[in-house]
Amino acid sequence: MPQTSDQIRSAFLEYFRGAGHEVGESGPVAIQGDPTLMFANAGMVQFKDVFTGKEQRSYTRATSSQKCIRISGKHNDLENVGPSPRHHTFFEMLGNFSFGDYFKADAIRHAWTFIAQLGLPPERLVVSYFGGEEGIPADEEARELWKELTGLPDERIIPCGMSENFWSMGDTGPCGPCTEIHVYQGPDNPDPKTFGQEQTPEGYGWMEIWNLVFMQFDRDQTGKLTPLPAPCVDTGMGLERIVSVMQDKTSNYETDLLRALVDEAARIAGKTYGASMSPDDI
Ligand code: SER
Repeated sequence: MPQTSDQIRSAFLEYFRGAGHEVGESGPVAIQGDPTLMFANAGMVQFKDVFTGKEQRSYTRATSSQKCIRISGKHNDLENVGPSPRHHTFFEMLGNFSFGDYFKADAIRHAWTFIAQLGLPPERLVVSYFGGEEGIPADEEARELWKELTGLPDERIIPCGMSENFWSMGDTGPCGPCTEIHVYQGPDNPDPKTFGQEQTPEGYGWMEIWNLVFMQFDRDQTGKLTPLPAPCVDTGMGLERIVSVMQDKTSNYETDLLRALVDEAARIAGKTYGASMSPDDI
């Protein structure tokens, strides 16, 4: 079982390499030549033109670990940083992508196989899917596929609305319904009915770890959705989050990715990390 962040990143990329994906570098964080986006906010950004059919590549499957910044625009996590132990302005997103190659069934199958490879117990997982909104029908196909391919019971396959389970890069661009895998962190196996409740102060609760987007539309400035030339897949799993799960931590700051930096900052500041949250002490 991979344990360190390096092992987990490598395990992901190697799994998808083994499943025929081209392993790519992270794309640039500062975006050039796209007036709709300042920073890469997801792994799909470097493939945006491939999804819309403007650009062709020599491969139809890719995987990467993308450096992302979410401090502005549609995906802005700035206000969450600090109060939340699982949001960052700068983070890494593991992803696998299909450009008109496989679609929903294989996206779900691959995600479930990799989750099993990590050893995450299914009784600690729920999945959410797009339950329909704004005239766009519910993604019943995704719900059926989760049931059929994973054996998850109905109460662990939960419909959600547009804001949770319909993903777009920005106000315009490629978009589509998505389905997310959420893991429960806490001492006991959870009741799936608690899904959506707030985390406890100790950080226990449900955490989204992997988003599988079924890219099907290109949204223009008027909000009109035009089908993409071919349905595509764009998934994203926050490296810091999956590392916290694998290292049994309820805060990303306690993982091997960030704890050494926190300790060094505390040393330089002459403070004890975790001793006080008072602004007077900062
Ligand atoms: N683009 C989706 C996200 O950022 C999946 O990668 O969540």
